[in-house]
Amino acid sequence: AARRDRADAATLTALRREVTLGVAVPLIANVDQLPKEAGLGAFLDGVTGPVVVSSAMPGFELGTERSVVRVRWPLPDVAIRQAMWTRAAGDPTGDLQGLAMRYRVGAGVIARAVVSARAQREHGPLDAADLAAGLRHNIAEDLGGLAQPVVVTQSWDDLVLSDDTRDHVTTLIGRIRHGHKVLKDWQYRSKMARGTGVPALFSGAPGTGKTMVAGLIARELDLELYQVDLSQIVSKWVGETEKQLAKVFDAAEQGHVLLLFDEADALFGQRSADVKSAVDRYANLEVNYLLQRVESFGGITILTTNLESGIDSALKRRLAAHIVFELPDEDEREILWQRLITTESAPLAANLDLLQLARTFPKMSGANIRNAALAAAFLAAAEHATTITQDHLMRAARTEYRSMGHVLSERSGRA
Ligand SMILES: Nc1ncnc2c1ncn2[C@@H]1O[C@H](COP(=O)(O)OP(=O)(O)O)[C@@H](O)[C@H]1O
Ligand SMILES: [Mg+2]
Repeated sequence: AARRDRADAATLTALRREVTLGVAVPLIANVDQLPKEAGLGAFLDGVTGPVVVSSAMPGFELGTERSVVRVRWPLPDVAIRQAMWTRAAGDPTGDLQGLAMRYRVGAGVIARAVVSARAQREHGPLDAADLAAGLRHNIAEDLGGLAQPVVVTQSWDDLVLSDDTRDHVTTLIGRIRHGHKVLKDWQYRSKMARGTGVPALFSGAPGTGKTMVAGLIARELDLELYQVDLSQIVSKWVGETEKQLAKVFDAAEQGHVLLLFDEADALFGQRSADVKSAVDRYANLEVNYLLQRVESFGGITILTTNLESGIDSALKRRLAAHIVFELPDEDEREILWQRLITTESAPLAANLDLLQLARTFPKMSGANIRNAALAAAFLAAAEHATTITQDHLMRAARTEYRSMGHVLSERSGRA
């Protein structure tokens, strides 16, 4: 199944013929990637003698009547991984132990990463940074368009949050940062019933900064951020979501990755307590699978949702953190206006009244204010104004407000 396109029923039939004719033990790699129609179970039943199969999914059901011996193939530990890097890359320089610790990969992935790293560096010996870059190329490749890398450009200074929410975010970061020490070194893992993955849920109205905070956390912890588009996975691979999710997690497992399932309601929205239709049953299976993988995933997962009610209780129980993002209050809106209109070179008028903006347009989220601030700048530019004035800001805010479906009273609308 390494050549996935060819791993079908015909391949298995041909393989059975060869096995029957000669003395050979077939090895079928990555059986979890085989299409159902390939008839793996029937193949296994039909072959006499031993067969070896490999799967990235520990509990994968082979569908055979034969007896099965399952061997768990553990990931090499940090010291072995370090030795593998040293050997594969010809004694590279730099922090190899750091590299081995950060990326949970085996020999095959290491070999591929070395080839990629060599291709990128014209001459001279490879160092740990080259190897990490080589590895990242391959992770992106394995994610196969199911998840997109996100470049984070904002900083904590740009963020406006209530103290409460900010405290929760800080706690979550601490939990991730010290996970290794507490769970491994201090062995608290043994006290945990389930996996040690850190699934966090961010919920709240659209535009309150959920995606932004996920990005900032990734940046703070020096993790690669990959955004998984669940709605795409769910609609494009109906009934195959589980397989696609497996792919995402397998690839992410290797890297120093924070997985962001943005607007996860695409999946959770479908979950229902009393399973009626076949579609529902699928959705339930997939959510269960997602939850299970999120937990056993060695990395960090953040799910975001705009719906509070749609969040399943089974999911809530399993969360390491649930952070609720509120719409900004008046003070926060004033600060948001301030932060979002200010740049090093924006020509702002001297007499701006941001409190007036915060008061006149009470229901705006951070994203709404960002839109309005940008629109005001475009208004000023289009009018060849020398400064961005209060009038530009008010007009832009009013337009944004209307697009949000709010109508202003005469008084505030004129302000
Ligand atoms: N709390 C906030 N503080 C600062 N900027 C914000 C905040 N919330 C939203 N923004 C601005 O709006 C943009 C979009 O917000 P986003 O994080 O996508 O919201 P959500 O994911 O909750 O829908 C952000 O990139 C940022 O520019
Ligand atoms: Mg978002």
